[in-house]
Amino acid sequence: MKKIIMKKRVQIKKEKTALKIDKLISIGVPGLDEIFKGGVRPASSILLTGGPGTGKTILALQFIVDGAQHGECSMIITAEDTSQSLRAYAASLGLPLAELEKKGLIIIVEQKISDGRMISMEAPMQLLESRKVKRVVLDSLTLFEFIYSSNTEEFRRGILHFLATMRKQEATVLVTSERMSLEIDNFQFRPEDFLFEGMIVVTRIRKAASYERVLTVVKMRGQEHLLDIYPFTIGEKGIQVFPKEVPFSLVERERKIGKL
Ligand SMILES: Nc1ncnc2c1ncn2[C@@H]1O[C@H](COP(=O)(O)OP(=O)(O)O)[C@@H](O)[C@H]1O
Ligand SMILES: [Mg+2]
Repeated sequence: MKKIIMKKRVQIKKEKTALKIDKLISIGVPGLDEIFKGGVRPASSILLTGGPGTGKTILALQFIVDGAQHGECSMIITAEDTSQSLRAYAASLGLPLAELEKKGLIIIVEQKISDGRMISMEAPMQLLESRKVKRVVLDSLTLFEFIYSSNTEEFRRGILHFLATMRKQEATVLVTSERMSLEIDNFQFRPEDFLFEGMIVVTRIRKAASYERVLTVVKMRGQEHLLDIYPFTIGEKGIQVFPKEVPFSLVERERKIGKL
């Protein structure tokens, strides 16, 4: 009797492991999947946070385009850009956003705060269902701050409702958010950070008169990931992460204080 139970356990374990590896999806940024040990779980929610100009919109565009290129209908809800400026921005980075949009694989939803129009998440949520969207970007969370400006409780509830809708639809969601000051060694968490399953921080570190772009995965619920701080670049083809390299600025700093 005992033997049979033992056998069953081993079998279940095997199945689970296989499932985990099969199911991860690519983020679409060279080098970043390696940090997540193969990609992220479908239907997970990730917060991408950093200061202005740190590459959040570009990373989000790469994520959306990658999904569409793999046949997944993808949606970008933008509070910061117009559809036109977003198409041009993507094109300048060699990302075929407009082409994929024409093929019906990408939906751009403009929710510009500066328009002064009534903003509602109802229309994008309906589209999400009818078009069977599998990847969603919200750029940025400022949109929710604007909708629920007077009430932090409602703001959190609004995010939770949004994320629950995504989960129901089995869509993987990447939300960007802005930080005013971001010190990698002294990171201040905000209440909304806890609502997401995953969190990526992008920032810059100064070395003498120059800056280096770095990224770290703070958390990713339900899966293993690498924990270090990795350098990345933004070039003509967008973001590239270097998972095997150490930021030169940090090496220099540690050397100076005699740790290396
Ligand atoms: N074609 C490009 N080549 C190299 N760097 C670029 C290019 N386009 C944008 N960048 C860099 O990316 C930064 C903006 O990235 P973006 O994702 O828009 O930032 P944000 O985090 O504010 O959304 C710019 O400040 C610039 O440094
Ligand atoms: Mg941006």
